[in-house]
Parts: sequence; C-alpha cells; structure tokens
Amino acid sequence: MSTSPSKIQLIQPDDWHLHIRDGEVMKDVLADTARQFARAIIMPNLKPPVTTVDLASAYRTRIEASLQSLGVHSFTPLMTLYLTDNTSADEVRKAKAAGIVGFKLYPAGATTNSDAGVSDIQRCYVALEAMQAVGMPLLVHGEVTSAEIDIFDREAVFIDQVLEPLRKDFPELKIVFEHITTKQAAHYVRDAQTGEKNTLAATITPQHLLMNRNAIFAGGIRPHNYCLPVLKREEHRIALLEVATSGSPRFFLGTDSAPHAKGAKETSCGCAGCYSAFNALGLYAEAFEGVGKLDKLEGFASFFGPDFYSLPRNSKTITLVKQAQSIPAELPLGDATIVPLRAGETIAWSLA
Ligand code: DOR
Ligand code: ZN
Repeated sequence: MSTSPSKIQLIQPDDWHLHIRDGEVMKDVLADTARQFARAIIMPNLKPPVTTVDLASAYRTRIEASLQSLGVHSFTPLMTLYLTDNTSADEVRKAKAAGIVGFKLYPAGATTNSDAGVSDIQRCYVALEAMQAVGMPLLVHGEVTSAEIDIFDREAVFIDQVLEPLRKDFPELKIVFEHITTKQAAHYVRDAQTGEKNTLAATITPQHLLMNRNAIFAGGIRPHNYCLPVLKREEHRIALLEVATSGSPRFFLGTDSAPHAKGAKETSCGCAGCYSAFNALGLYAEAFEGVGKLDKLEGFASFFGPDFYSLPRNSKTITLVKQAQSIPAELPLGDATIVPLRAGETIAWSLA
C-alpha cells in the first residue's frame, strides 16, 4: 500500500457484508459495489429467505445474469445461507461442498426480513455442530429481540446472553460478529481468547465509523440514517474507530449497504438500512483519515477479510484520490429511487 496526502493505492478490497436484493432492482445496486470491490458476501434475507443450497445456486445465477447485463466480468458474489430452526446437518455439509461461505444467524424479528430467523439458538445445535466440524463460518446479527430490552442495549445483552455461551459450546466454530456498533462488542472481539487459530472477527460499517445516534435526529427525523443495529452514542463510535484502525486482523470491512426505496424509508414505519454502496470506499477512507490512520485502511479493507475466510487475497490494485465526490440526492432503484448515504453532500475521497 502506498499513501500520500492525496492518493492511496491499495489491493482491491472486498465487501464482507452486503444486501443486493433480487429482481429488477438488483443490477442498479450491484453496479455500485462491482465498481469498487472484487467480491462481496451476499446476505440471504430475501423474501422468501435463501435457506438451501438450491435456492442459493438459483440466486447466484440471477446475480451472474445481472452482472452480465452490466458488462461486469470481474466481480464474484460469495453466497450465504439463512440459518433457521430447521437447518439440517446435511444441508450444512452440502453447503460446504457447494462453496457457500457462511450461514447467517438472524434472531427472529431482529431486522428486515428476519421473521423466518432463529427463535432459539438451542434449536440450531445440530447445524452448528456440523458447521464447526466442516469449518463453515457463522455470521451473526448480534442483537437480542425481546421488546423489554432497550434498543440501544440489545447488542451488549446479546454478547452475554447468546454469544458468550455459544462460543463456550462451540469453541472451534468460526464466528463473524456482523456490523458491530458498541464499545462492548469492539472490546469483546478485541480481547476474546481464542485458540491458536483465531475463530472470532467482526465487520464494521462506514456509517457506524462516521456517525453517532444524533445523526438520526439532526433537526428532525432522518430516516436514511436509520439502520439496525441502530447508531449508538459517540463513545461507541470512537471505540469502533479505534479497533478498525488498530491493525488487528479481527476487524474488517462489511458495508451492510441495504437498499430500500425512498418511499419505504420516508413513511410512518420506515425500513432499516443505509445505502452506502455508492462510494463506500470513500466513506471508509474519510473515517480512517479522520484519525490519521489511512495506512491501516488496506489491512481492514483488503487483507483481514479473506484471511479470516481462508480465501486468497486479491492481486489487482485500486487507487483512491482525495477529490471530493458529490453524492446525488437520489439514485435509480428499478422503478423507484433510493437516497444514498450523504445524499446531496460530498465525500472527500473517490475512486480514481
Ligand atoms: O439496517 C439493516 N438493514 N440491518 C439489517 O440487519 C438488515 C438490513 C436490510 O436487509 O435492510
Ligand atoms: Zn446486513
């Protein structure tokens, strides 16, 4: 990696957590990601969810058709399956053989399209046993769902109630704590005792590095800054920035870019999700530069993800330049539009 005040060259990054949906809208969002990233982990929370290898293969075929229609030949989708109470050990082994890179745990009701998610993790022990045995990572949406728990505490409570017991029961299971948002999660992952081979990592989104919860209420309600897990206090943002820029291989890039049509966000019960894919790398560069750690961006964006997933690092390089990019107020999303993160503003860095 070479950095100067105005230019960074780095090995091409991957996005280890991404939503691209399905159907007509897919190619609109896929184009933004494929411009920047070589690979992305595709989340399985479609309607209905991607629960089997056959459903994932069919989804991959539709993604490939979409890429072809865009004339993109250099982007690889990495497929995941949606864990349910009924996932069998056989499906796990079949998934491993088919090149599925992980299973996603959505606690039922935690977020967008999670109704078919796991009602009680104990029900998944047969599948988790098989995942541990074959080396299949578990990707977790780490929030408890009970209505009595304050929404700002749900991630921290998840660590105590679910994650810690799970790691005790499956010490060899590889786990990615997805889109972490709190000091508690950052420190839990940083300090976890794992075996010789590290089994625990976390992804971090650009919005959680750049904004705190004030951004949801700045001068009025800001639905486009609402995602789950929800933005937290400033002390949590600082802790996330600290671990992301620390050079620890346990923390890597996952945008959680989650497109929802403008109308589905600007309504009385708006959907959760920020669309960051338009210039995600610029957002991360801005966050790292803000704490004087641009030299740590390449590890976070390009090395630690593939290392954790035991995949090869990319070899091509990309260049980011310190040139302000204007972010459009809206972008096309099929027949509708989407309001990207930072709509109508600028991002300091852009892809050369
Ligand atoms: O804000 C979010 N949006 N968080 C999630 O966990 C899911 C995602 C989506 O699919 O829209
Ligand atoms: Zn997500």
